[in-house]
Amino acid sequence: SPPKSIKLGEKRYAIDEWFNAPSTITASIARKLHTEKDHPISITRSIIESRFPSPTYKHYSSFFPVVSTHQNFDSLGFPADHPGRSKTDTYYMNKDTVLRTHTSAHQADVFRSNESAGWTISADVYRRDAIDRTHYPIFHQMEGARMWDRKKVPGGNIVQAVWEDIANLPTHSMIVEDPNPPTHPERNPLQTGQHSKEEAEAIAAHLKRSLELVVVEIFSRAKAAAIASNPDYVDEPLRVRWIEAYFPFTSPSWELEIFWQGDWLEVLGCGVVKQEILEKAGVPSQLGWAFGIGLERIAMLLFEIPDIRLFWSKDERFLSQFKGLSDNLEGLKRFVPFSKYPTCYKDVSFWLRSSSSSAGGGIRANAQDFHENDVMEIVRDVAGDIAEDVAQVDEFTHPKTGRKSLCYRINYRSLERTLTNAETNEYHEKVQRELVKKLGVELR
Ligand code: PHE
Repeated sequence: SPPKSIKLGEKRYAIDEWFNAPSTITASIARKLHTEKDHPISITRSIIESRFPSPTYKHYSSFFPVVSTHQNFDSLGFPADHPGRSKTDTYYMNKDTVLRTHTSAHQADVFRSNESAGWTISADVYRRDAIDRTHYPIFHQMEGARMWDRKKVPGGNIVQAVWEDIANLPTHSMIVEDPNPPTHPERNPLQTGQHSKEEAEAIAAHLKRSLELVVVEIFSRAKAAAIASNPDYVDEPLRVRWIEAYFPFTSPSWELEIFWQGDWLEVLGCGVVKQEILEKAGVPSQLGWAFGIGLERIAMLLFEIPDIRLFWSKDERFLSQFKGLSDNLEGLKRFVPFSKYPTCYKDVSFWLRSSSSSAGGGIRANAQDFHENDVMEIVRDVAGDIAEDVAQVDEFTHPKTGRKSLCYRINYRSLERTLTNAETNEYHEKVQRELVKKLGVELR
C-alpha cells in the first residue's frame, strides 16, 4: 500500500488523497539556490537586499517551504473557491498542507513576530505550471514589507513620518511612464475605513520610490556587467511603468513592468497591506506596504541567462561563471552561453475520455477536468530538465462523437550534451505510456 506520510526536512507530514508532489520536486527542497554562495539567484537576492538596509529591515531566508493552507491562502484573504487553491496549480501534501506558492505565505507570521520596521523574506516557491524557457515549477521570490506604528510615530502622525522617510531615500532620474495609475474604486479601493487618503498616498509613494530604486540598482549593475563583457555595449533607455493590479491581501495594489526585448515584462506585485491582516496578526496599530518580486526574472535580466533551467544546473560551465561574485558585486559579468545542443521536437496526440465515462481514481482526463498542467508534470517527471518546452499545437473535436483530441509538441534538448535519437525516442515513448496510464487518454 502507498506510504501514508512523507519526511521533508526535519518533519514528517501525513499524506492523503490530496498528495500530488512528485519526488523530483520534493527532492529539490534541499537545493536552496537563494542562499547558495555565488549562485546567480543568491547574488540577485543580495543586490535587492542591499536596497533594504538594516537595522530598518531584517532579512529572512530560511523559512521551510511546507506551510498550511491557512498560511498560504486563508491568512491572506483568498476566497475558498480561488483557482490558486486547486490541485492543478498547487502541490499538496494533504488537504491542509502545501508547498508554498508564494513568499506571502509567511506575511502574517512575520508581521506578528518581527520587531524591526521592515523585513524581507527570500525563499523557494512551488507552482504547477507550463514548461518553457521562463517557467519552472520551483522558483524564488523575495517578499518585503515596511510598517509604521501609530503608537510609535510622534503625535501618531503617520503622514508626516512617512514623508520624512521618503525624504531620506535617495532620488533617481529614471523615467517612469504612468507613475500614478488611478486605483479602481471597487476592485482596488483605498481602505477608507482604516486609513486616511493622505496616509495611503504617503505609503504608496514610499513603496514606489523604494521599488524604483531596486530597478535602478539592478539595471545599473546589469549595464556594468554588459560593459564588462562588451566594451562597445550601448544600452537602451530603461522604460518602466506602474499598472493597477489586484491581490487579495493589499489594496490598492500595483505591478511594476519593465520594457525588455520588445515586451512589457511584469517583475513584481505590491500594495498597501490590508489592515485586516495586520489586525489578525495582532499588530492593529501598524500600517504599511508589501511587495513580492520574482528572483529568476531579475537574474535573467541581470546576467542575460537565456533559460530558467540553467539555474538548476550543476554544470561547471554554468556555475564557474559566477565564482567569487557573492563577495564582489562590483565584478558582475554577463553569462556567456555555452554551445547550444541540437533540439528534437516530438508530437503526441491523444483523445480525451468522453465526459460520460466514469473516473477510476487518480487524475483522469475527462474532457471537463483535463488540465494542461498534468501533461506538463508527466513530461517533467519522465524527461526532467531535458524538456525545454511543451506546447499545445492542435485541438480537434470529432463532428459526430463530440470527442476531443489534443496534440502537444514536446521540445527535448539537454543544456549539457547532445541527446541521441534513441534516447529521445525512449523518453517520448515513456511520456506516451504515462499519459495513457495516469490520465487515461487514448493515443491517436
Ligand atoms: N504574492 C504575490 C504573487 O506571488 C506578490 C505580492 C506580494 C503582491 C506582496 C502584493 C504584496 O504574485
